[in-house]
Amino acid sequence: MKPSLVILTGAGISAESGLGTFRDTDGVWSKFDWRQLATPEGFANDPVAVHGFYNARRQGLVAAQPHAAHTALAELEAAWLASGGDFLLVTQNIDDLHERAGSRALVHMHGELFKARCGACEAVTDCRTDLSITDACTACGREGQMRPHVVWFGEIPLGMDEIFAALETATHFAAIGTSGTVWPAAGFAEAAKAAGARTWELSLEAGESGHFFDVTDYGPASETVPRWAKTMMDEIRA
Ligand code: APR
Repeated sequence: MKPSLVILTGAGISAESGLGTFRDTDGVWSKFDWRQLATPEGFANDPVAVHGFYNARRQGLVAAQPHAAHTALAELEAAWLASGGDFLLVTQNIDDLHERAGSRALVHMHGELFKARCGACEAVTDCRTDLSITDACTACGREGQMRPHVVWFGEIPLGMDEIFAALETATHFAAIGTSGTVWPAAGFAEAAKAAGARTWELSLEAGESGHFFDVTDYGPASETVPRWAKTMMDEIRA
């Protein structure tokens, strides 16, 4: 069977880059109300507040840098593909630290902070500066319709067909730095297990999908991920 590796990452992989996780004690959702800031209803109710929230996060991302875990996954991707395997990195993160570390086979299932979307024509455009309620779409010219290109609660994640196709043929699956509480990502370990994949969980602590993992390694991603990636590279090259 062709080796096929699917990796799911969450906020924990970017924590050591200085980007906050969501559900840890001091996480983003302990300081901010996701109902007001991360739902279509919240945006309709107070777009200025929602833009302010994402503008601050975008500014924080400009200053952040990828670390050893992001780099290790990019190296693993190159080694896995060079050995003839299939590889897909699925991230719930809206940061671009995987790309900056060199990852290419990547799906941002919850969108991207450095992109904006027009609510009128649906065009997705690069966005590295603040968004406001008066911005015009560079594609259709309409004003006041721009929103962050992020998937909010109640919206359908991106790339689901590609992700589930990869999970159906996965021989190896790893969840890294995710609490496993947000669906559909929370179901990926079970789907990979049902496909017969060997499964790993790398995080600070056990998440909600713990019983679907064959191997667990709890610690900072900057330590666990390079160690795990090396064992995967040794295996694919053997
Ligand atoms: N190394 C590894 N794991 C870590 C680290 C670290 N340095 N720091 C924290 N973690 C782990 C935590 O133990 C936790 O299990 O990362 C996980 C982060 O969980 P969440 O904050 O729930 O983040 P995530 O799973 O990515 O959330 C999913 O929720 O609000 C939404 O859209 C948002 O994409 C996000 C989704």
